[in-house]
Amino acid sequence: MNAPTVRLHPAHPVTDVPPVIEEELTQEERAELTARIKRLLREQDAVLVAHYYTCADLQRLAEETGGCVSDSLEMARFGHASRASTLVVAGVRFMGETAKILNPEKRVLMPDLHAECSLDLSCPAEEFIPFCDQHPERTVVVYANTSAAVKARADWVVTSSIAVRVVEHLHARGEKILWAPDRYLGDYVQRVTGADMLLWQGACVVHEKFKAEGIRELKAQYPQAAVLVHPESPPEVIALADVVGSTTQLIRAVRELPNPIFIVATDNGIFHKMHEVAPDKQLIEAPSGGKGATCVACAHCPWMAMNGLRKLVHVLETGANEIHVPEEIRVRAVRSINRMLEFAGQQAIPVLGRSAE
Ligand code: 13P
Ligand code: SF4
Repeated sequence: MNAPTVRLHPAHPVTDVPPVIEEELTQEERAELTARIKRLLREQDAVLVAHYYTCADLQRLAEETGGCVSDSLEMARFGHASRASTLVVAGVRFMGETAKILNPEKRVLMPDLHAECSLDLSCPAEEFIPFCDQHPERTVVVYANTSAAVKARADWVVTSSIAVRVVEHLHARGEKILWAPDRYLGDYVQRVTGADMLLWQGACVVHEKFKAEGIRELKAQYPQAAVLVHPESPPEVIALADVVGSTTQLIRAVRELPNPIFIVATDNGIFHKMHEVAPDKQLIEAPSGGKGATCVACAHCPWMAMNGLRKLVHVLETGANEIHVPEEIRVRAVRSINRMLEFAGQQAIPVLGRSAE
């Protein structure tokens, strides 16, 4: 077998990472806001679609009101299947845009339109499109964490739960891949599949900071622990993993593996659902500090933290923060997202949470 080819392309630098600011509420405020949101969701025929990295208040509310808490693939599927005329997407902007691309007839609102993603920011369409044009022989596969305009230029969109299987499928057909934007996920997929991949060099500001040395120390301290790693993490962290997977796949591992302790290398917002599905298991945050640490968003995404109950009330009361995607971009982006959803349908991706029940 020929040695696989890996080539690299520099990413757009992302320097402006906001601080993590969590919403602080008293018990009374929380109860009052939750009751108001429940009433507003009913009145406006709206459903709340939240990511596992958002705060526990939003995750609880989504489930209590018939919405969904999930990974980015299931968020897209749930919004598409829902009968509600308004989708309120608590997550980051690409998740709201994906909902709008799949559901042009629905109103899509987000608590905060400044909720970006460092991967999306690292790959502006005006740099990405000419790069693709220089490599017409390659199939363009982009991670869901990209803008609508980048998705519109892609042949396939993938999420972390399905990236390996899609690239395996394309590699088996003899296709060479142009991958963007996450360098670590791209590198992981390349090593698992052996595909010929040209990699954009973006990174997630949260996952790239996990430290292998600290995880090794924890493993020595807790020999019965399993290490769970999201594939946006660096290769030396992935090398220590017992399970590598999307947020949904990591939650399932906590529920299904016999280990009493888990060292978790992903955003700590996920601990809410992990505790819920396996209350007896001990969860330890993988270290992002320690020697050589430079983290600005230690184990929590500053953009996910922009979602909160007060902002949710505001958008439901005012209709602010509606997502719009220009139609000429939407019609092209929907093709590459639908390829993934059709592929995922055939592959029966396992999911957790109410939406799957
Ligand atoms: P998942 O699709 O695994 O939920 O990942 C989305 C994400 O942004 C992880 O950082
Ligand atoms: Fe993007 Fe990383 Fe935040 Fe996920 S955790 S939304 S990849 S910046």
